[in-house]
Parts: sequence; structure tokens; C-alpha cells
Amino acid sequence: MTYETILVEQRGAVTLITLNRPQALNALNSTVLAELIEAFATFEADRSQGCAVITGSGEKAFAAGADIKEMSDKPSAEFYAEDFFAGWTSRIVKATRKPWIAAVNGFALGGGCELAMMADFIIASDTAKFGQPEIKLGVAPGMGGSQRLTRAVGKAKAMDMCLTGRMMDAAEAERSGLVSQVVPLDRLLETALKSAETIAAMPPLAATMNKEMVNIAFETTLETGLVMERRMFQVLTATEDKAEGMAAFVEKRPGVWKGK
Ligand code: HXC
Repeated sequence: MTYETILVEQRGAVTLITLNRPQALNALNSTVLAELIEAFATFEADRSQGCAVITGSGEKAFAAGADIKEMSDKPSAEFYAEDFFAGWTSRIVKATRKPWIAAVNGFALGGGCELAMMADFIIASDTAKFGQPEIKLGVAPGMGGSQRLTRAVGKAKAMDMCLTGRMMDAAEAERSGLVSQVVPLDRLLETALKSAETIAAMPPLAATMNKEMVNIAFETTLETGLVMERRMFQVLTATEDKAEGMAAFVEKRPGVWKGK
């Protein structure tokens, strides 16, 4: 499938999605959202694919935010009528049960930072810069920034970022727990693809359930979360891949997964 604003390729069991509007620093307009919804749905439905990586084209930006030019003349009633930005969570985050990684290669501002935080984890280049500068435009985050950033880095830094609009560099992002690792820009894609290959080679039901378990930690109490974790663990013990994984360990050989 050919897209206008993104590039999608399969590399073995990994789907690589590249935001491809470098002239606008990969700003996220409604076409990008529609195409990402399609690309993620294809990834989710394709049993040969185990993990996805999303990155930005060019060396400057992952994504410099929602497209300001598209939003500047839009009437408020239309933002509300369309439930503007709702699709990011409902059609991408919630609809994608398989794991995906954001490889942040430069500016990740506003919606760009929010898109990166929708991924299961972020790997950043040493040139990456994160920020929620919406306040400077007279608005506020609208794709999860105030919620996901606060959960990722805590109140002090989230307030600082949202109220001053300042950027956080890669080192601060790693220190703050926003990203899992920082690598030189020229090693970013290979590092993210390697992580994705590792995940794609795992038993797929276990991968989905591990993701689900970690996400539940953000939604519920510790006690309920611990019960849900045990139940998911117990469900996984009924899978053929559990029998295979434990047999493979005992027999000192790699497991061969069926996804059931
Ligand atoms: C549309 C954008 C854009 C954006 C950059 N561009 N960011 N177009 N929407 N978010 C375009 C510029 O207009 C310009 O195109 C080209 O990309 C290069 O950008 P420059 O500004 O010339 O580059 P530079 O001087 O290097 O500055 C880089 C930058 C700056 C610091 C990242 O572009 C910037 O501040 N961008 C906006 C960041 C931002 O505010 N993001 C949050 C958006 S709001 P032309 O054709 O003009 O040369 C959001 C959520 C909103 O994400 C939720 C509430 C409704």
C-alpha cells in the first residue's frame, strides 16, 4: 500500500513506519493520522508481524507536533464535533495490542512527544529533544501530553515542561525515565530495529500479555493489578507456547512458537 505522508516497510517480522513530511518537520496533520490508523491496523492484523517501530524521516525531527497550519483557522465547534485528536488513542493506542517502539530522531514536540509516548517505549538519539510547547500557542496538550508525560516523569518535570514549554534533551529524558535508552543518531534505527526483532521473536501471546500487564499498572490499584497479573500468568500457563518454552529451556534449545 502506498501512502502520501508515511512510509511503511516490513523487515522480517518487524514493521517500520516512517513519518515522511520532512519539509514540515513531520508535523502530524489529518492525513498522517488517517494513514497511521491504516498502517497500524495492517500491522495488527498481519500474523507475520510481531513488533513495529515508528520514526521520523530526516535528521531533524521525529515530529514537531500537530500541524499548526491545519489547526490555525479551524473553528472550535469543529474541533469538538470531530472530537479532534480522539482517534490517536482510540484507533491507534487502544487498537494496537502488539508491541511498538518509537525511535525518536530529533524534535518530538507537542503531538510529536505525545505520539512517542503512545508507543510502548521510546529509544532516543542523542540529538532528540522532547517538549510540550502548546502553551506558547495559547492551548495545551491534546493527545495525552499532560497525562502520559506526568505518568512518565512525575509532576515536577511535567508541570515544568507544560508551563514553560521548554525542551528536554535526550540525557534529561533518559534520567527522567521518559526513554529507555539513548544512542548516537547513526545507531538509532539499527538499535530500535534490533529491539523490535527481539520482541517479534518472543511467543506472541506472552508479548501481548506482558504489554497488557504493564499498561494495567497505569489504570488500576496495586491490589487489583496484582490479581490481574496472576490471572494473566495463569492463563499463559495453558498455552502451547508455555509448554514449548519450558521444554526448550530444559532441553537447552531455542523455542519454536505457535502463537497458541
Ligand atoms: C506545521 C510546522 C510545524 C508544526 C514546524 N513546521 N513545525 N508546520 N506544524 N507543528 C514547519 C515550519 O513552518 C517550516 O515550514 C518547517 O517546518 C521548518 O521549521 P522551522 O521552524 O523553519 O525550523 P527551525 O527554525 O529549525 O525550528 C524548529 C522548531 C520549530 C523549533 C521545531 O519548527 C517549532 O517550534 N515548531 C513548532 C513546535 C510546536 O509548537 N509544536 C506543537 C504544536 S501543537 P515553512 O514552510 O514555514 O518554512 C500540538 C498539539 C496541539 O502538537 C494540541 C492542542 C489543539
